[in-house]
Formats: sequence, C-alpha cells, structure tokens
Amino acid sequence: MKKISGNPFLQKIDNKILIDRVPLDKIVNISELPIMIFLENRIRENIRNFDGIFKKIFTNYQCFYSFKANYLPQICQIIHSEGLGAELVGMLELSLALKLGFPSNKIIVGGPYLSNELIEESVKSHVKEIIIYNLKDIDRVNRTAIKFKKIQNICLRINSQKYRSKLGVDLNDISLKLLDSLIRKSKNVKLTTVLSHYTTQMNNIEQYKKNIKSLAQAIEVLNKQEIFIENINLGGGFPEASIMHKSQLERIAIQVKKALDNYELDYKKIYFEPGRYFVGDAGLFIASIIKVTNDRWIFLNIGNNICPKFARSSLRFYNASKINYPHKYKTSIAGIMPTEQDVLAKDFFLTELLDEQDIILITNAGAYTLTFSNRFPYNLPKIFLLKGNNLEKIFDHIDDHDFSIKALTF
Ligand SMILES: Cc1ncc(COP(=O)(O)O)c(C=O)c1O
Repeated sequence: MKKISGNPFLQKIDNKILIDRVPLDKIVNISELPIMIFLENRIRENIRNFDGIFKKIFTNYQCFYSFKANYLPQICQIIHSEGLGAELVGMLELSLALKLGFPSNKIIVGGPYLSNELIEESVKSHVKEIIIYNLKDIDRVNRTAIKFKKIQNICLRINSQKYRSKLGVDLNDISLKLLDSLIRKSKNVKLTTVLSHYTTQMNNIEQYKKNIKSLAQAIEVLNKQEIFIENINLGGGFPEASIMHKSQLERIAIQVKKALDNYELDYKKIYFEPGRYFVGDAGLFIASIIKVTNDRWIFLNIGNNICPKFARSSLRFYNASKINYPHKYKTSIAGIMPTEQDVLAKDFFLTELLDEQDIILITNAGAYTLTFSNRFPYNLPKIFLLKGNNLEKIFDHIDDHDFSIKALTF
C-alpha cells in the first residue's frame, strides 16, 4: 500500500485506489461525477495531532476552529465532538455553532463587519469574546452590553504588519488615544485579548516569528498606555496536515513557545484559530476529463466555480484511471466555466496518456473551496462524508435547494 498525496486515508494498492476503506470504483458507481468527499477520520486525526502537540507545549492553550474554512454543518459537528471551540465571522456561523451545541464559552466572534444583529446575538448568547477589527465597534458592543446588562469581553485584532495587510487595528498615536478613551468610558466591555493572524499557508517558522513580533510590539505599546490584556491569540495559518507533517508542526509549536518566551510575554491563555489544518486534506474532488487538447491541456467537469484559486489550497491532481502510470508529464488543467480564466493548474505533472472520461482525483480541497465558491450557474457537486466503510450523502443540490437549480424550475 502506498499513500497518495501524503494522506494516510488515500491509499494505492496495485492499481486500485482506496479512500478510507472504500474502493474508488465503488464510490464512482454511486453517483455521477463530479463529487466531493470529506474524510471524517482524517479530520479527527488532524485535530488530535494538533491538540496533542499544542497541549503538550502550552499548559494554557485553547483552540477555536475557524468556521470559514468549511462551515458544512456535518464538518463543524465533527469538530465540536472533538471538543474544540469555534471562531466565527458572521450570523450564519453563529446560528450554526449555537445549533450544533458549541458552548458559548468556546465561541469567539468577530470580523471586519459586525452587523447589529451579530453584536446583539453574540452578547445575548454570552460568547467568550467579540473580536474588534474597527475601534468604533467598541462603542457599539458597549451599548449592546448595557442594553442586556452584561460585561462583554472583547479581543483586539491588531494589524499583523504583514506587507499590505489591511485587516485589524494599526496602533499609532491617534488610534491608541482613541482606544484608550473608548476603553475608559466603555464600562460594559473588558479588553481581555489581543489577536494577530499573519497569513494563511505558513510553511516557514519566520512567518510565525513575525506574527509573534507584531503581537509583542502591540502589547508593549498597549502596556505603555496602561492598557493591560490577559490573553493572546495567534490566529491560524497552518497549511494542510499532509503538507505540514506532525514532526514539523511540533517543531513550529516549540519555536513559537520559544519566541514568546524570548519576548517575556506574560499571558494567562494562548489561543489558536486553525481552519485549513483540520479540514484541508480531508476534502477531495473526484472529477473527470471532458476534453484533451493536442498541447496537453485537459478540461475537467469542475472549475474555479467550486475549486477556486482564492482558496489557496495545495491542490494535487492524480489520474485515478491510470494511477500506476508515471505522473511526470506536464499538463495544464482547465475548468468548466466558459472563460479563459478558468485554469485549475498550469504545468502539473500527470500521466503521458490522458483520455476523455479518465477520473481525476483532486486532493487537499477541503478548506475554503466551498467558502469562496461562486454562483456560476452550474450545480454544486454532490457532497459525501466518508467514515471507514460508511459513505453518507450530506449535500445534494436538488434536496438542499442549491439556488442555481431554481433557474431550471422557474
Ligand atoms: C483571524 C483569522 N483566524 C484564523 C483564520 C484561519 O486561517 P487558516 O485556515 O489559514 O488556519 C483566518 C483566516 O483567514 C483569520 O483571518
């Protein structure tokens, strides 16, 4: 048996592919392609590996899954059952997390846009923290907290200082003055935490260190202003688990701890908000080739509408119909949308022979693909959750009212 895409739940035996414990042949007989599959056991393994490492290195660590990576209810339910918290950006996610039974002390909510409804529901539901990206939102949270006679903990997202980063608060003389006055007069909010999220797909320890440096500098500036915080939040940004192996993740965690110790940062709790690491390599597409050109372009029956570049996934492509053939011939891959821009990959290594109807496996597609998918008028593929031998359909555009189908029945 040989792993495909570095994923222990994708195996090659002779010329057959096993997805968890189910042969690929069996899966493609169940439904017309393309389909999307999520591997429950891989999500659980990724969570346990991450949690195990970080719990060992930090005694005061807490983890909040970033729902935006993949907010399918069944995926979030798995995350909840493993005991993680939730990091949410909007009302849709908050309603879902509450419905799934995430306890309010494991929910943090916030983003560049806080609607009145989101602030109100967050305060009413006693969420652990509301994350502030815009200082003016402090007053809005305070007024809502007064209305519900609560003291609401808040977390300040600072701009991580990454080149051209726009998100979060820049701590300069003007913003510090404003923050100071807002904190002093807003008696129903308590600033407990500072968050710095650097970027996604951080493969290099230097990126983690830069994030910690930003955070340490922000805390120093805040302390000078006599604003003291209790907890730190380093956000997410970890690559797919099959890209960042367990030993490498452990090295990163150790270095993160060391870097924090070097700054002599004093904090009660440390939070992380991974998204991609848990679900990225637990999701795959099974598509097929619909056209092959003479200059080694293949067209698949999925495209950027459902597998978008915005997702920044480490996609890998395999010709499942010829899995034993060498994958060493440069091939460019186009998608389903009638635009030249719909390119899934350029010069990716695939088999020499490529035929229409060949089945193409696309791995590392579990994070941000659905989030950034757009509504080009094609149906979304059916989505299945696979655990061991058990294959369960969790999304079908007909039953689940994918709105593009409405155009057909209008
Ligand atoms: C504040 C914050 N936390 C966590 C995440 C999750 O990032 P990732 O999925 O790369 O771990 C993001 C992603 O953009 C983010 O902006």
